[in-house]
Amino acid sequence: MIPAATSPAPAAGQILAIASGKGGVGKTWFAITLTQALARQGLRVVLVDADLGLANVDVQLGFQPARDLSAVIGGVVTAEEAAIAHPGGFDILAGRSGSGALAMLDAGSLAAVLATLPRLAARWDRVVVDLGAGLEAPQRRIAAAADTLLVVATEEPTSLTDAYAVLKLHGRDRPGGDARVVVNLAADSVAGARTHAALARAAATFLKREVPLAGVIRRDARVRDTIRHQAPLLTRHPGCNAARDVEAIARSLAAAP
Ligand SMILES: Nc1ncnc2c1ncn2[C@@H]1O[C@H](COP(=O)(O)OP(=O)(O)O)[C@@H](O)[C@H]1O
Ligand SMILES: [Mg+2]
Repeated sequence: MIPAATSPAPAAGQILAIASGKGGVGKTWFAITLTQALARQGLRVVLVDADLGLANVDVQLGFQPARDLSAVIGGVVTAEEAAIAHPGGFDILAGRSGSGALAMLDAGSLAAVLATLPRLAARWDRVVVDLGAGLEAPQRRIAAAADTLLVVATEEPTSLTDAYAVLKLHGRDRPGGDARVVVNLAADSVAGARTHAALARAAATFLKREVPLAGVIRRDARVRDTIRHQAPLLTRHPGCNAARDVEAIARSLAAAP
C-alpha cells in the first residue's frame, strides 16, 4: 500500500509546483530550499513566488525585489528580465505585488502567469513554483500546468485533509498527473512514512490514485534560525537534518527514470 517503498519514483518533470492547501506547513521554506538543493546539483533553477500579495519568498530571504511577477503580468518586463539572481546560486521571480493575493487574479492575469511557465522552462532547467495556500482556481490551474505537483503535508489532521483535497482536485484537473507527497515537520522518518501511508491509503481507496512519497523532512530548529536570519538553509546550516532531507528529495526528483 506504500508505493514509494516498493518502486523508486521516476524523475520529476521540469516544472515543479509546491502546494499544500493549508498554510504554515513549510511550503515556502521548502520551495526555497528545494530550489537551492537542485541548483547545488548543477541545475539552473528559477523559483517563482506565485503567492502574489503575501510575497513570502522575499521576506524569508530578506530582499526587496525591484522587479516581480506582477510586472511580467502587466507586460512591463519579460520573465527573463524580472528574474533576480540570488547569491545562493539560483534565480527568483518574486511575487511582491500590490495586486492582491493569488486567489484574486483575474482571468487575464492568470493566463499571463500560465503562459510564463513554459517560457521559463525554455530558459531554466527547473522551474519551482510556490503556490499560496488555498484551493481557488488560480492555484488549481497552476498546479495542473506543472509537470510534477509536490504536496506538502504534516501529521496534523487539518493538514492531511487539505493535502487530500489538493490531490483530489489535481486528479480532476489533470487526470493521471504526477503528484507526490512531501511530509514536513516529522519527528523522524518512520513517523513521516506513517503520515504518507495514511494519505496514500485514502487516495488509493477513494481517489483510486497512487501518490508516492517524495520524501520526509524532519522538524529541525535550524529552519526557524535561517528564516529569522533571512538566509537559505543550505547556505547557513548545510548538513543539518532538514538540509540533508531536502537534498535527498532533490536527488530523487532528478533521478533518471
Ligand atoms: N522542517 C522544519 N522544521 C522546523 N520548522 C519548520 C520546518 N518547516 C517549516 N518550519 C517552520 O514553519 C513556519 C512556516 O513556514 P512557511 O514556509 O512560511 O509555511 P507556508 O509557506 O506553508 O505557510 C516557518 O516559520 C518555519 O520556521
Ligand atoms: Mg508560504
